[in-house]
Order: sequence, then C-alpha cells, then structure tokens
Amino acid sequence: MNVRDSEAVSALLEAAGHQPARTEDEADLIVVNSCSVRGKAEDKALGKIGLLCFSKRERPTRIVGLMGCMAQRLGPDIFKRVPGLDFSVGTRRCGAIPRLVERVLAGETAIHEISSPDETPDVPDAHTESGFSAFVTILLGCNRRCAYCIVPDVRGPEYSRPAREILAEIEALARNGVREVTLLGQSVMNYGRANAVWSPSDAPSAGAFAEPFARLLEAVAAIPGLVRIRFTSGHPSGCTDELVRAVRSLPQICHHLHLPVQSGSDRILSLMRRGYTRADYLDAVRRLRAAMPDFALTTDVIVGFPGETEADFEETRALMNAADFDNSFIFKYSPRPGTPAADMADDVSDEEKRRRNQVLLEDQDLRGVAANQRLVGTLQEVLVEGPSLRNAARWAGRSPGNKIVIFDPLPGVQPGALARIRITRAAPQTLYGDALT
Ligand code: 5AD
Ligand code: SF4
Repeated sequence: MNVRDSEAVSALLEAAGHQPARTEDEADLIVVNSCSVRGKAEDKALGKIGLLCFSKRERPTRIVGLMGCMAQRLGPDIFKRVPGLDFSVGTRRCGAIPRLVERVLAGETAIHEISSPDETPDVPDAHTESGFSAFVTILLGCNRRCAYCIVPDVRGPEYSRPAREILAEIEALARNGVREVTLLGQSVMNYGRANAVWSPSDAPSAGAFAEPFARLLEAVAAIPGLVRIRFTSGHPSGCTDELVRAVRSLPQICHHLHLPVQSGSDRILSLMRRGYTRADYLDAVRRLRAAMPDFALTTDVIVGFPGETEADFEETRALMNAADFDNSFIFKYSPRPGTPAADMADDVSDEEKRRRNQVLLEDQDLRGVAANQRLVGTLQEVLVEGPSLRNAARWAGRSPGNKIVIFDPLPGVQPGALARIRITRAAPQTLYGDALT
C-alpha cells in the first residue's frame, strides 16, 4: 500500500514538472512515506526525517516532507518532534503534495494536512513508468479493528473506489504495456461491502458473479492486454464460494493469496478480535486448495501477543504446518497507542518473542524448501522481468505462485512475455529452470 502511495506521489510530482533525482544526496525535495504498524517502523522514520531536516543546515533550499500513517497519527505534534520539517500529509490527502511543495517554495513551512477519518478520499490514479507490473488501490482503510492494529485509526474506515474509476485506471495501464496488476486493500475481498461501487449505468448484468469483488475481478479480467491479476491482502471471511469460483474460472487470476492468519490459537485469535477461528481459517485454505491444487498461500503471523503461552505458540506452529504456507512473514508484537491491545500487559519478554520468531522462521525455511522441491519437474508459466539482479547473463521472472524463477534467455522470450519454464532445481527462495520454445 505504501509502495503504491509513494509511486502515485512521484507520478504527480513528475506531472507537476519535477524530475526524479538519481540519488538521495542530490535531491532538492525528499518526501518520507511512513508506516505506523509497529513501533520500530516509526522509530526508523523519525530518525530518517530528523537526519534529513538536519541536512537542511547545509542545504537550506532543500524541502523535506512527511506522508503516510505516522503523519496522520501524530498530526501537528510532528513539527515539535522534528523541527525544520516543511510539510506533513495524512493518509487520504497524498494527492495534495504537489500543491504543498508550491506553498513551501512560496515561503510557508510546517504545513500540515490531516484528513478527517470519514472524508471521501481523492485517490490519485497516476503511475510512473515502471515496467510490466502495477499496483492499483481498490479499497482504502479498514473496518475490522483487530485489537493490536493501528491501521483503522490511521487509514480510516473502509472506502471502496467506484468500479468505473478502477477499471479506467487499469485500462490506461494496460494500454501503456502493463501486463500484471495487483489490486490492493487491507481486507481486499471486502471491496464494495461498505459503500456502493457499481452504479446502475454500469454493466446492468452482473455477469457470472453477484458479489462486488468477484464482479470487479471479472471486469478486470475482460481488459485486453492484461495477462495476470493478483490481489492482496485476504481475510478468511472473503473466501466465499463465489470468490473461489472466480479465481478458478478467470484464467488471468494467479493461484496465490496472501492470507494473514496472525495466530493458530483460538484463544489468541479471539483476544485479537480477528473474527475467525482456527477451524474457519483452515476451512478457507481447504476450499481454495480443493478447487485449485496448485494454490500458493503466504501469511503474516504475530508472535508474543499479550498472554500468548507456549501452548498457544505451539498451536500456531501446528497450524502453519497444516496450512503448508509457501512463505510467511513473522512479526514480534509491538503495542500501538490507542489500540485495545495496548491496554493489555505486554507480558511476553522480548527475548521470548525473538525465540518464537526464530522458531517460526526455521520452520518456514523447511516448508519453503519442501514446497519448492515439489515444483521440480513441473512446467511454470513465468512473467518475464528481464536480466536477473545477481547474474545479468540469466533472466528472472515470477511464477503464478509469486516465486522467482531463473532461466537462460531464449531468442523471442522478451520482458513482459509469459514464458513456459521447466523447473530443474529448487533453492529455498528461488526456482531454476529451462525455457521451452
Ligand atoms: N505488532 C506486530 N505486528 C503487527 N502487525 C500489525 N499490527 C502489529 C502490531 N501491533 C502485523 C500483522 C499484519 C502485518 C502487516 O503487520 O501481522 O498482517
Ligand atoms: Fe489491521 Fe485487522 Fe484491518 Fe488487517 S484486518 S488492517 S490487521 S485491523
């Protein structure tokens, strides 16, 4: 989400006549996009902006701004914490940045633009020229209020963009050569549940699907030129029969979902207010895999949530093995101000959080190697990116399951094409193979 917001701001600044700097050092304008999801992310951002503002002593004309969740959370207090900051823009107003830069150039400083949580956001549709793959925001904010999470406070309530707006943005991307889009939302399958997204003048028939998100997938799949569609992040409640049917029947949709589980213990899931049980989660996994045996799943897990016992932790380990995740992102619980969990005792020691984190990473490595080994001998359809970062003589692309695949280039296999690769070897994070003509 933040990568997409940063890209939109870059594109808006370019449209306003600014040019990208080659290095941070030579930049006259620097905007730091910030994340509030864990305390560490905020500490890092504060350190970075502090250094940048300090650099203005030697470069008084440099403009430094802050955007994103931390700007939203701290409001005008940010200017007390970071003297010299020129502007700070909350989550639903990043489109205002080019105008704010003009105001700073005209002599203003310490400008802050914080959105009210219920205002209708103006979502920029601008993109920079960046290859064959693009992110498209379809749903802002979140209505779930998981006990540990600051996102609903800083990104506001759910707002689904009108389908017409999203489709126009993707059509323009496809005309410019984009081949893959990833639809973004905190709980992306909630698209269209909180506000209307299809107006009566849009396609009167709902096609094969009635749910707003499945309808959107169907409409995106009809856009010429796109060969791949992804969406993230998922929630088990969104894994309806209709969603499963849409993913299985629309050939462009990749058989991969990032489906954060957070914990495998029913007691902790309930304290976290996740809105599902371990059995519900595993049922969603079972239905996806029953319909699509090649379905790849990745997840997020929090270790050391208040009150998490060794037994709870072992249930998480067992669930992760049962769900057989292709990859997982493990986070140590970090209390966030104003969230319900911040009132509970943060009673798992940092050392124990680190240990649990390490155990899950090691389990994941074993599962990841085994999952990749099972792909040796299979044929993977790879969206070709071009020369690999490590060895430019070989090329890289991604499988539908979002794994990096390395292969020798063949004449006729161009970046942006779909190539068929026979997998010959598997490493923990990478697959190797031969391109078929
Ligand atoms: N502490 C640790 N991890 C968190 N996440 C969200 N809030 C917190 C928190 N307070 C994790 C969740 C989420 C991911 C983006 O960040 O796992 O899925
Ligand atoms: Fe946060 Fe829960 Fe919403 Fe995800 S679903 S953004 S964890 S409140």
